[in-house]
Amino acid sequence: MLKLTALFSLALAGLLAAQAVPAAGDGNVERGARAFRQCAACHSMEPGDHRTGPSLAGIWNRKAGTIEGFRRYSKALRESNVIWHGVSLDAWLQNPKTMIPGNRMVFRGIDVPGMRQDLIAFLKESSRAETGSAQGTGGMMGGMMGGRPLNLKELGANNQVTSITYCADTYDVTTGTGDTHQFWEFNLRFKSDSSDNGPAKGDPVLIPAGMRGDRASVIFSTPDEISPFIRRKCG
Ligand code: HEC
Repeated sequence: MLKLTALFSLALAGLLAAQAVPAAGDGNVERGARAFRQCAACHSMEPGDHRTGPSLAGIWNRKAGTIEGFRRYSKALRESNVIWHGVSLDAWLQNPKTMIPGNRMVFRGIDVPGMRQDLIAFLKESSRAETGSAQGTGGMMGGMMGGRPLNLKELGANNQVTSITYCADTYDVTTGTGDTHQFWEFNLRFKSDSSDNGPAKGDPVLIPAGMRGDRASVIFSTPDEISPFIRRKCG
């Protein structure tokens, strides 16, 4: 009788323990990597590669709003005192707005619990990969799927901009292959990327945008390069 009770309480303890553990272990890393496509427009897993949102390298067990080098955190996130782990990430990914009101992540949330668990498994795994080696799967995913090549210095001659001239409402952009592309001024954007993945100083690059080929961005290393690079010239 005594033995049975002991056994029962042991089983009960086991059950309670199983429930107390957040469901974080249940996710599938590979499915999570695929689900990360929803995030990759704004987040990379490459350390220091900040986009609309911060790089998520090393996010596991880190205090919210403390990724080094990201300057656009909301006050709400910075002062939330949240630590990122299975439970907090689950609440965040279900509905960022209700978890931390006033935060700046424009994302409606994921209703499917299984998908959240997959993402959490992926984030945990990639965080670990980042501390182990810079070549972790997370790094590659973030680099490949963020909507631009990892390093703008590695683009070919057809993306290297050698000159830009401006006349009336038109930009003529000449590339390293000698081709000149014309853009209506409203369809060409000038951007800067001062990160390690940005273009070399004085070597802006042309990145097509949109499906029809009538839009593009020219990306400079720093904003002060932009105006001096553009020459007014007609004909
Ligand atoms: C539209 C852009 C966008 C999308 C899509 C997006 N995020 Fe974010 N995310 C942000 C921004 C911006 C912040 C910073 C929010 C703030 O400071 O209030 C952020 C913050 C975070 C943080 C907290 C970072 C920290 O340092 O505390 C995590 C974790 C996170 N996002 C995960 C994800 C995941 C996972 C997905 C995909 C399911 C995702 N985000 C989708 C823009 C985005």
